[in-house]
Amino acid sequence: MKTLIKNGRVVTAQDDYFGDILVEGQFITLIGKSLTVAADKVIDAKDKLVIPGGIDAHTHMDMPFGGTTAADDFRTGTLAAAHGGTTTIIDFAIQAKGQSILEALEIWHKKAADKTAIDYGFHMIVTDLTDKHIPEMKALIAHEGITSFKLFMAYPGVLLADDATIFRAMSLAGDHGGLICMHAENGVVINEIVSRALAQGKTAPKYHALTRPTAAEAEGVNRSIALAEMAGSPVYIVHLSCFDALKKVQEARDLGLPVFAETCPQYLFLDDTYYEQEGFEGAKYVMTPPLREAWNQDKLWTGLRMNDLQVISTDHCPFCFKEQKALGLNDFSKIPNGGPGVENRLSLVYNGGVLTGKISLNRFVELTSTSAAKIFGLFPRKGTIAVGSDAGIVIFDPGKKFTISAGSHHMNVDYNCYEGMVVTGATETVLCRGKVVIDNGLYVGKPGDGQFLKRSTVCLP
Ligand code: URP
Ligand code: ZN
Ligand code: ZN
Repeated sequence: MKTLIKNGRVVTAQDDYFGDILVEGQFITLIGKSLTVAADKVIDAKDKLVIPGGIDAHTHMDMPFGGTTAADDFRTGTLAAAHGGTTTIIDFAIQAKGQSILEALEIWHKKAADKTAIDYGFHMIVTDLTDKHIPEMKALIAHEGITSFKLFMAYPGVLLADDATIFRAMSLAGDHGGLICMHAENGVVINEIVSRALAQGKTAPKYHALTRPTAAEAEGVNRSIALAEMAGSPVYIVHLSCFDALKKVQEARDLGLPVFAETCPQYLFLDDTYYEQEGFEGAKYVMTPPLREAWNQDKLWTGLRMNDLQVISTDHCPFCFKEQKALGLNDFSKIPNGGPGVENRLSLVYNGGVLTGKISLNRFVELTSTSAAKIFGLFPRKGTIAVGSDAGIVIFDPGKKFTISAGSHHMNVDYNCYEGMVVTGATETVLCRGKVVIDNGLYVGKPGDGQFLKRSTVCLP
C-alpha cells in the first residue's frame, strides 16, 4: 500500500517546509517537492500541518486504582488517543507488592494485545525490588523492551516504594541503560495531613488539593534528584505541577545533572479554583498532584520554553463522575485519583501554547512527540518525519475551531475536564505505521492495528 501526502506544511522538532511525503507499507520512504509517484491513496494536506504522530508518555488504561478501574481500556483509550492525534502511548504495567515483575508484565500484555488503535509500550511500576526481582528488572531492559520504570513516593501501603527501593532501582537503571520515572510527592506526610483534615470533618473534594501542598511535591522532587545523584543515574519526574517543584529541577539541570521532567495539560490550563465548583463537581479534578494556583502556569510555560521541562504528557487516568468519583462522596480521600485527557492534548497545547506565542510550532512537536521518543528509546523510529521512520503522521488543521465536550469526545468517561473550552487546531487525519486510522475525523481502523513497541535503552538528549 502506497500513500502520498501532498501539499502539506511538514513540521518536525527541527524542520518546517512545504513538501510531499510518500508512505510505503509502514514506513516513510520518500520526501520531496511535488512528488509525482503513483500511489493507492493520495491525501491533500493543503493548508494543513503534517506532523509526527503524538506520543503520550503517560497513560493509565484499564488500571485498577482507588477501589475501581480506569474507565478507558486499551481499546477505547487508544481510539480516543488516535482521534486526538496521538499514535503512540506509553502506559504503565503494575507490579503488585510481592508479585513477580515478569508475571505483572504478562498480565498487562494480555490487557492490551489485539485491542489498540495505535502503538503502545509499557513502563513498569515497581513496588518491590528484592533480590529475586533484580534479574527480572534487568530482563525487562535487556529482552522485553521495557526500559523505564515508575516508582512512587506517594500512596503509602499501595504503591509507595521506600527510599532504599528507589535507590536500588535507580542504581540498576543507571548501570543498564534504564530510566526511573518518579512520582515525587511526600505521601507519608500527605497521609498525615489528610487524616487531620478528615478528623476535622473536612470531607469535600477541595480538601484533596488543600492536603497536598506544593512543598510535598518539591520535597519529593528534591529527594528524587538526590537519590539519583547518589545512584549515578538519570531521573525523569512525572506530572510536575508547580513552580516549587520546577525550581528543584531547574537547579539540578543548571548543575548539569541528568534530570528530566514532564508536565501535563491540566497543570497548564486548569487551576485550583475548579475545586470550588458547586456540590461534588470538584471531584472531577481530583488528581495527583492536584491542580495548583493559577500563577504556576506561567512558570511551567517558562520551564517548557527553556527545556527544564521536556515533555507534555496527559497522565490520562479517567474515572466516571457518576459511578466512580462518587466513591468519595463523603470522604475526598476515597475519590479515585485521576482525570481524562488523552484525546485533547494536541489541540489544547496548540491552541494554548502555539497560538498564544508561548511556544513555537517546532517546540510544540518536540514537546508532544519528539522528546518523549528520544527519552524513552523510540527515536528515530517514532517522533519525527524522516525517510525510514514509522509513518505515524498527523494531518492537523491549524484553523479548525471546535468546542471540547464530553458530548462529542471518544474517551469512555462521562465528563471532560475542559468542557466548553473553544480551541483552534484539530486533528483531521491520522496514519499509524502507514495505515489511515482516522480519516477526516472518522475512525476507520480496527482494534489490533496498534503494535507493542519494544523500546531501546535510553539515550538521553
Ligand atoms: O491522579 C493520578 N495522577 N492518577 C494516576 C496515578 C498517578 O499517580 O499517576
Ligand atoms: Zn503518579
Ligand atoms: Zn499517572
